[in-house]
Amino acid sequence: MSATATEAPVKIRQTKLLINGEWVDSASGKTFDNLNPATGEVVARVAEGGKEDIDRAVLAARRAFDDGPWRTKFSSRKRGELLYKLADLIEKNADELAALETLDNGKPISETRYADLPLVVQCFRYYASLADKIHGEVIPVEGKPGTMFCYTLREPIGVIGQIIPWNFPLLMAAWKLGPALAAGNTMVLKPAEQTPLTALRLGELITEAGFPPGVVNIVNGFGETAGDALVKHPGVDKIAFTGEYKTAQIIMANAAQTLKRVSFELGGKSPNIVFADADLDQAVKGAMAGIFFNQGEVCCAGSRLLVEESAHDAFVEKFAAAANARKLGDPFDPKTEQGAQVSKEQFDRIMSYIEIGKKEAQCVAGGERFGDKGYFIKPTIFTGVDNKMRIAQEEIFGPVVAVQKFKNPQEVTRVANDTIFGLAAAVWTRDISKAHRIANEVRAGTVWINCYNTFDSAAPFGGYKYSGMGRELGVDSVYAYTEVKTVWTNLR
Ligand code: NAI
Ligand code: MG
Repeated sequence: MSATATEAPVKIRQTKLLINGEWVDSASGKTFDNLNPATGEVVARVAEGGKEDIDRAVLAARRAFDDGPWRTKFSSRKRGELLYKLADLIEKNADELAALETLDNGKPISETRYADLPLVVQCFRYYASLADKIHGEVIPVEGKPGTMFCYTLREPIGVIGQIIPWNFPLLMAAWKLGPALAAGNTMVLKPAEQTPLTALRLGELITEAGFPPGVVNIVNGFGETAGDALVKHPGVDKIAFTGEYKTAQIIMANAAQTLKRVSFELGGKSPNIVFADADLDQAVKGAMAGIFFNQGEVCCAGSRLLVEESAHDAFVEKFAAAANARKLGDPFDPKTEQGAQVSKEQFDRIMSYIEIGKKEAQCVAGGERFGDKGYFIKPTIFTGVDNKMRIAQEEIFGPVVAVQKFKNPQEVTRVANDTIFGLAAAVWTRDISKAHRIANEVRAGTVWINCYNTFDSAAPFGGYKYSGMGRELGVDSVYAYTEVKTVWTNLR
């Protein structure tokens, strides 16, 4: 592997906290090391926010919401215009943001530049266009016509604490900030400690776009300190979180003390179902994208591959060949298809699941690290998996897939649903009725038919069961950032 990743062609411009429109050091003066996962080397020291910084940020967001010009001078249309401006600025700086993301997360530049960044821009534009279409309704109510007038308003919830993960750092910031800003809330955003950089650059662009001070505050820091303080803060009205379900359980319990609203987008163990009547080459491509995209660090990864018995061997042969041919290496090489796992912790966790898998099932591709520097793991396929095994039940969040055989549609639906999760599922078949029957029977927030990992800002995304609460994207996300007010008027 070349050493170019350490000499990444991107300058880290901002490492401080954004509070009330100003870039400040943390109250404690503390910083934490930010690593390049492709090399394990420190690339920046980032201000580490703690309770005191969260207090200041919440106060700024509170003032911006309660007393600032945000509520009085920024109409919904004006908020939309600001969001359009922000999207334009992101587009203008897309090369820099993509490089920063690749440096910070380890994912390939081909993905950050041509998947993450376009989706970020699309997301802000989508919510820009929705901002002036958020409204209530007139409700026909009991009584003689013309005696009562009843209508609803959709109002912002207030101060939102947004806690995001490291797998799509900038995109997750966009999914959270876009709808919440369109609806008129103010925010304290806590990025993941593994990937603090792109949110800070985004903060600069938010300021440049003209959002008033305090509307978006960005406090980097650790989950157990900064994140915890945000969740417990009485000045915060809602927590929107993406990450591990076990963290969501802690957040829900802590948020209960102040009855905060919560919305969660959590993990999965999504079944990717291949029938023998599918276009097998297309299904192999879909299985590859389903599990190996973004190093497998994807909440909706197709980590359980369920293949009809009669097609199993032919499918696995093609799939293993494709996995072995995947190009790993320097994330800054435009030809690289798979980069580094985000951190040593995540690398160790995935490798420990690979060891578990080797005891439970057969490893037919990968099963080891790639290279001797950075956190790279070869695309790994296990066959002979039973759905009760740990590698079939627990979220690994890496390039590791568990292949199981099935005999008929009844069996596969039962196995597909035999999980605590319910984020996504996919079906590969040429039989359209069978595809839609499965789509109806699977308990998951998204079902893909003859495709995988397709996203659009207009299409809602979220989970059943342990995979989440509420929906992101689409109009649904605006609902998650608004309260409904009902107004009655006596006309007599
Ligand atoms: P995590 O859920 O601990 O971290 C996500 C975010 O929550 C980060 O910003 C973190 O600082 C914050 N956080 C952590 N503990 C908190 C607390 N007590 N209070 C408030 N905020 C807190 O996820 P982690 O530890 O980085 O990864 C562990 C596993 O979680 C992964 O291996 C993967 O299986 C899963 N995960 C799922 C994601 C998804 O998109 N669904 C994203 C990231 C991780
Ligand atoms: Mg954690």
